[in-house]
This record gives sequence, structure tokens and C-alpha cells, in this order.
Amino acid sequence: MFVEKIILKSGADLEAMRLAGAVAGKVLAEILGFIRPGVTTNQVDRFAGERMAAHGAKSAFLGYRKYPCQTCISVNEEVVHGLANDRELRFGDIVSVDVGVVYRGFIGDTAWTMAVGGCGVLAQQLMDVTEKSLALGIAAAVAGNRVSDISRAIQGYVEGHGFSVVREFVGHGVGRSLHEEPQIPNFVDGKMDQKLRPGMTLAIEPMVNAGAADVKILKDGWTVVTRDGSLSAHFEHTVLVTGGEPEILTWQTPSVLKGS
Ligand code: MF3
Ligand code: CO
Ligand code: CO
Repeated sequence: MFVEKIILKSGADLEAMRLAGAVAGKVLAEILGFIRPGVTTNQVDRFAGERMAAHGAKSAFLGYRKYPCQTCISVNEEVVHGLANDRELRFGDIVSVDVGVVYRGFIGDTAWTMAVGGCGVLAQQLMDVTEKSLALGIAAAVAGNRVSDISRAIQGYVEGHGFSVVREFVGHGVGRSLHEEPQIPNFVDGKMDQKLRPGMTLAIEPMVNAGAADVKILKDGWTVVTRDGSLSAHFEHTVLVTGGEPEILTWQTPSVLKGS
């Protein structure tokens, strides 16, 4: 099978992954704190680039397949890969920010959705369900389980609450490269189903629509939106599979960032 293409991390590489994850988590938190009504997504993206530089990191997205921005900023019906522009964020919008950083050769990948000021009940419920589905997916990321156990945990919770998971984009292994094997779908696809092993570093990232699962890509070639125009949310952590509890690498852990 293809197990040998999965890169297990240990020793110095794992320590570097922890640092990259911490930087990604810190930068994401800083960006979320910067977002307020009236700010443009261009301003958010520029701020993101400045914060990455301040921590000695670079965007893992800028230039990836010619991607033109530091981060992905996806508003309301935008699912993922939203491009920064001069749109002003408004009270009541929900905005998904996806941050990938390269730090000393390794990548941390993390995303969060927040309301701008406040939002409607449906939007809040969508965010809550998506965040919880990520937590359940992470809890299933234990050695001996399979990738499909993560997928099933996410899909079951999301669909049980009347929302739908996006099929066209999936989570993934992450390390020196942004996208490593295995793929981590947010639905059970019945395809190759790897066993989880200690040392795997996985980006688990449910993308959840309030309406139907179908998406399309806008003419800019990047921005993914829901076909029915319904709201979408996206939460992501980079996680280390261990013999016991999964370790979330993209929480901000100030101790490793001291002095940065
Ligand atoms: N954010 C995506 C992920 O989490 C990857 C974005 S690639 C980009 O896997 F080029 F669109 F930025
Ligand atoms: Co991401
Ligand atoms: Co990712």
C-alpha cells in the first residue's frame, strides 16, 4: 500500500513542528484580534504578513500554486481560499481565516471562523457545530484508529445537526510540505483508509455549509463558495498523533515564543 509515503515525525523535526504550530496559532490569534467592522480583508492580510515576519516566519500559502495572498480570508458564503481585497468587513459577517506558516523549514496550518462584532443565530450555530466537529475529529486522531474514524466523527456530528460537509476539499498530512499524505476527508469515502501511527502530523479541517454541500470556484480561480449561497465555516488545527492523547500543535503556546 502507500503507508511508506506518510512521513512520521520525531526528534528535532517534531520539535520544529511544535514551533511552527505555535507560531501559526499565535499569528492566527493576532489576526482574529485585529478583525473588526470596517477593516478590509486586504488590511487583514497585510497585518498577517507583518505578524508572520515579526515571529520570523513566512506564509506557506503565498506563491503556493501561484496563490497571491498571505492568508485565506473567506467571508459568509465563501468556504475556503478567499482572496484578500478591498471589501470592508461588516457587523454580522462571519469570516474564516486560514493561516499557514513556514518556520525553520516546517509548516503549521490552522484556521478559525469568527463573527465580525456579532452575528445571527444560524451563523453562530454553524460556527459552534463546526468547531465542535473539529474537536471530535481531533479526539479520534489516536494511534490504532484509522483516518475514517476522524472523518466519521466529523461527518456524524455535522450532519446530525442538519449541516453538510464539503467534499471537494479535505484535511491532510503536514510537515516540510503543506500537503502530505494522507488525505483526511471530512466524510467517509470508503477509499484507502490508513491506520494512524504515532508521529503523524495531520491538519484536520472541517469545512461545513449551513445549506447543501455543493461548492463552486469563482472566476478569480481561487475563492470557493457554496453553490446555494448558504453560510460556511472552517476550523483547522495541526495535530500530532501519539500513543495517547492527540497533541494540538497550533494552540498558541507563549512559552516557546518567548522573546519573539
Ligand atoms: N489552507 C489550505 C489548507 O488548509 C491550503 C491553502 S493553499 C492556498 O490546506 F494556496 F490556497 F493558500
Ligand atoms: Co489551512
Ligand atoms: Co490545511
